[in-house]
Amino acid sequence: MKRPQHLLSVSDLGVEGIAEVLRVAEAFAEVERRSMPKVPTLRGKVVATLFFEESTRTRLSFETAAKRLSADVLSLAVGNSSVKKGESLRDTVETVEALGIDALIIRHASSGAPHLVARWTTRARVINAGDGWHEHPTQALLDCFTVRQVLAERKGAAPEDLGIECFEGLRVLIVGDIRHSRVARSEVLAYSALGAQVTLAAPGSLLPPSLEGWPVKVAPDFDAALGDADVVSLLRLQAERGSGSFVPSLREYTAGWGLTARRVDLLRDDAIVTHPGPMVRGVEIASDVADLPRTVVTQQVTNGVAVRMAILFLLLGGEWSGDGPQE
Ligand code: NCD
Repeated sequence: MKRPQHLLSVSDLGVEGIAEVLRVAEAFAEVERRSMPKVPTLRGKVVATLFFEESTRTRLSFETAAKRLSADVLSLAVGNSSVKKGESLRDTVETVEALGIDALIIRHASSGAPHLVARWTTRARVINAGDGWHEHPTQALLDCFTVRQVLAERKGAAPEDLGIECFEGLRVLIVGDIRHSRVARSEVLAYSALGAQVTLAAPGSLLPPSLEGWPVKVAPDFDAALGDADVVSLLRLQAERGSGSFVPSLREYTAGWGLTARRVDLLRDDAIVTHPGPMVRGVEIASDVADLPRTVVTQQVTNGVAVRMAILFLLLGGEWSGDGPQE
């Protein structure tokens, strides 16, 4: 397939592209298991992270990924930058690009900001690391990667041997603040492109105003939906996007929609629980549930590095299809 210029949305990849990212990420996960987990693949390339919103794992894993590929990494601390003096997004981006960077990884509170940035850059590839309520494509890709890894482990098979067929008919239940969640939007696109059946469970106030065109069902009964799910994807209440005013109180939200110790007993024995982090223990997930082996949060974080290595590799020069990353 043709290499996309940027990664702004899961839909830039299509099913073939998602499969390619999962395949290449598998090869990089192997690199990560080595005692010296570094390859010279992107030597001489410069990757910049431009985060206008808080982040722990996304920024650290992109930077780790770039370093493992031997790229040079620039990290703009927006709080200490000229943005604070009133510089516009466009001028900031043009300034950063003028330093000769090859990839710009951007997180912004405004939906669509990375799309604008992609129009302004002349040679740098733009990667969306989360824009407002809109999308967070690399999170959805690493979620798919992790789910396939768990399914493969259980079968004693290699993940690549499962291909993408393992997603066909997989029942994925996305729970919580879907209205304000960019992770949910990207997960819906990725899982459904791979053939999974996606169901949403949320109070009406936390569903998007319209689901027209979304390839999903809405669960009429949360407890029953939990009993049907192969994968449960939990989301944090996006308080910074005003979700607090959409629920009566945190206690009532947890009682109605949290994955509590009682609800976890409704799950099938083999159901997998994912969460993009940061988790708020005691709200969307009970603390004991967060620590169960079926809750794969730390595995997701680990896999974030290999998946982001794959994205950087594929956007910055790697071959699509064929023999995988060359050293
Ligand atoms: C998510 C985000 O920032 O969109 N976190 C992440 O990137 N791992 C989800 C969240 O903040 O709730």
